[in-house]
Amino acid sequence: MIVSEHELSEIRGLIEQRSGILFDSSRERFFSTRVREHLDARKLAHGTDLLRLIKSSNVEYDTLLQRLLTQETSFFRYPAVFEALEKKVLPELHMKKFWETPRALRIWSAGCATGEEPYSIAMTIADTLEFADAWNIRILATDVSRTALDHAEHGAYDARAMESVGPKQREQYFSRAGEHFVVRPRIRNLVNFAPMNLAQVVYMGKFDCIFCMNVLIYFSEERQAQLVQRFYEYLEPGGYLFLGHAETINRCDVKFDTHTHQDSRIYQKPAASSRAAVAQERV
Ligand SMILES: C[S@@+](CC[C@H](N)C(=O)[O-])C[C@H]1O[C@@H](n2cnc3c(N)ncnc32)[C@H](O)[C@@H]1O
Repeated sequence: MIVSEHELSEIRGLIEQRSGILFDSSRERFFSTRVREHLDARKLAHGTDLLRLIKSSNVEYDTLLQRLLTQETSFFRYPAVFEALEKKVLPELHMKKFWETPRALRIWSAGCATGEEPYSIAMTIADTLEFADAWNIRILATDVSRTALDHAEHGAYDARAMESVGPKQREQYFSRAGEHFVVRPRIRNLVNFAPMNLAQVVYMGKFDCIFCMNVLIYFSEERQAQLVQRFYEYLEPGGYLFLGHAETINRCDVKFDTHTHQDSRIYQKPAASSRAAVAQERV
């Protein structure tokens, strides 16, 4: 099985162009090992055979992409983020929407992997929001990986995945199915899963909160800036953006207000009354 540097570079370029994911020098070894594994699994002799396949078939492209994605995640991955959601963001939204009928809450988990993130958001809402059942709560959870989404939709997790879920939440929000813990309908029904490639622009409507944690790090700086700009447009005035710990919006040309909660930073779109925010929306 032979794959040249030139072919690797062409495959890398194609992946970046279609998915936004950049395999820079820090991930060079990971990339070439996975591509070689893929050639082996598909019983292809040359890099050129793989290039031909992925250029001519979306299914083949997708199979390679699945092998290259990193799906590391966990429930309540950054405890401070979920504490900020509980103690600051949800009480604020509760006040803001108190007189709205119906009282609606729209949240997007962009790059949700196997579902731990959106279910953690749903559990936090169920624990925090007064009369949560009376709200129209929609958590949209999207990912480019269909394998990850299948797992997420199924909502069954092993004991290791459950280590960061407290005993009370385990009891309340999961049922047992043999070795697995299955998300109960009360939480499951708050979340809608859908395949979505963040490198493509789609009309999404407006959200009160967007979680995009540990996804931007895989994109080039230019793509990161474009995506953060889109998140800004998708947020309601006063809405919040949550990123992973290694991610910032420093190089992006958008004016979020920054709040620090313990070891986490969260970003708030200025409220509509701010003239600057309105002007920025028009850009
Ligand atoms: C490291 S996981 C992060 C999961 C979760 N957000 C967290 O922080 O625990 C990154 C996720 O981003 C997804 N992803 C990567 N590129 C994407 C793209 N272009 N569009 C949508 N999802 C993407 C991957 O499939 C993967 O599930």
